[in-house]
Amino acid sequence: MVVSLILLWIGFCLLLFLIRTRRPKNFPPGPQPFPIFGNLLQLNLENPVIDLQKLSERYGKVFSLYFGGRPAVIITGVEAMREALVTKAVDFAGRPDGVLLSHLTQGKGIIMADYGPGWKEHRRFALTTLRNLGLGKQSMEERILGEVSHISAHLEKCAGQPIDPQTLFHNASCDIICSIMFGSRYEYDHKFFQAMIKMMADNSKIANGPWGMIYDTMPLLRYLPLPFQNALRDYHTIKMHVLDVVNEHRATHTPKEPRDLIDSYLDEVDKRGKDCAPFDDGQMLTMLLDLLFAGTDTTSNTIRSAVLYFMAYPDIQAKCQQEIDMVLEGKDEPCFEDRHHMPYTQAVIHESQRSASTLPLSVFHCTTKDTGLMGYDIPKGTLVIQNLSSALYEEKHWKSPHSFDPSNFLNEQGQFEKPPAFMPFSIGPRTCLGEGLARMELFLILVTLLRRFQFIWPEDAGEPDFTPVFGVTQAPKPYRMVVKLREIMT
Ligand code: HEM
Repeated sequence: MVVSLILLWIGFCLLLFLIRTRRPKNFPPGPQPFPIFGNLLQLNLENPVIDLQKLSERYGKVFSLYFGGRPAVIITGVEAMREALVTKAVDFAGRPDGVLLSHLTQGKGIIMADYGPGWKEHRRFALTTLRNLGLGKQSMEERILGEVSHISAHLEKCAGQPIDPQTLFHNASCDIICSIMFGSRYEYDHKFFQAMIKMMADNSKIANGPWGMIYDTMPLLRYLPLPFQNALRDYHTIKMHVLDVVNEHRATHTPKEPRDLIDSYLDEVDKRGKDCAPFDDGQMLTMLLDLLFAGTDTTSNTIRSAVLYFMAYPDIQAKCQQEIDMVLEGKDEPCFEDRHHMPYTQAVIHESQRSASTLPLSVFHCTTKDTGLMGYDIPKGTLVIQNLSSALYEEKHWKSPHSFDPSNFLNEQGQFEKPPAFMPFSIGPRTCLGEGLARMELFLILVTLLRRFQFIWPEDAGEPDFTPVFGVTQAPKPYRMVVKLREIMT
């Protein structure tokens, strides 16, 4: 009797699952899901990007998968990406709930905030404040160049010895964001700063990695002591630290004389008066954490990838250095405007970004209304995953899609040219808010370092390995590098 009841119950659950995972009419096609897991077991969770590419060859540029019982649409290639994120921009501008990242942020702030007034106003506020604090002006360049001097000082001390640059580049990227948000930077050996950098790097591997996917797919496991609990705990620890910094600002801030982003937010709340919604403490904290997370791993991992390519292709490194030496002759430091006179170096930096594909699956989107894509119907609330890597390596859009080749960004006359398929910052209304800052950082940091140092692959390290470590932000495998000081012609 008990056995029959159990079998009946299992049969009922299976039937329920099959009904729930029956693709709606004219929904993008995809492989048959399994009970409980959906299509999760058909993906290599250590790095699903290759599997997603293979599935798109079978099912088309727009196809679907089930994460547990939840359907997701995967967008592949430039044309589908443009139709969704530019032509039907608002339809695809939502963010999903019920995933690890949205639980961490409780849907507040900017990155995981759903499409609506709260997201719109915070995005506008952050962009305007970044601009006011000097983006596009000299002072932002000074902040970045100031940070580069710390990197250079550190590298000078280590010249000749093999070092892993991961922590150094993470520190520098994080310090640039801290100086914008908090008005001050941390010394690299500051205890909490070091712990925070490690927590952020670990969290990036967990979210979107195997444990993140398990969290998103199987709600029943969320309360077990599995690695995603570390992500939740670490996020809270960093949040409490940022709260202390906000409280210090409250005590010392002079109205209408903002020193940094926190002061600007406090001014905004004052300006709005009693009914300051959607601006409040919870939103401010999440926005600050968004910028801290979004601006650290991304920039740092891109710089690490670029340096790996410099070492793997010493002739390309030398050609950049020749151009940089010529353009900067007689100058102490580069400025962002110099990029217009450095087509080859610009091409190499962009090619590093293309090859690194730092956010391979972007940040997950969600449809805000019933809509369509490439002839398929997609209901409101569907999870949408952009395979950004597919655009960055799409064969018809690049001269050399699968090798490291700066001529992907050079025209016949040797001038720098950015193909429309170059979208590492995504496109559309949710495009990276920090793109301007990130582009300035990449140029100023890499040009200054190339001018000052030669990067050499250690003799005993075997061949450089370009296999990426997957996460929300994809990183090169840890490596060691040797730096040698160069003569600067000033
Ligand atoms: C090389 C460095 C960077 C890369 C490759 C990158 C890439 C991206 C991508 C692909 C997205 C998702 C866009 C989408 O959902 O369609 C994104 C979002 C975002 N990025 Fe970046 N990013 C970088 C640096 C930065 C920096 C330095 C900041 C901080 C100032 C930043 C802040 C943000 C924010 C706040 C969002 C969420 C935008 C929204 O939802 O409206 N990013 N970024």
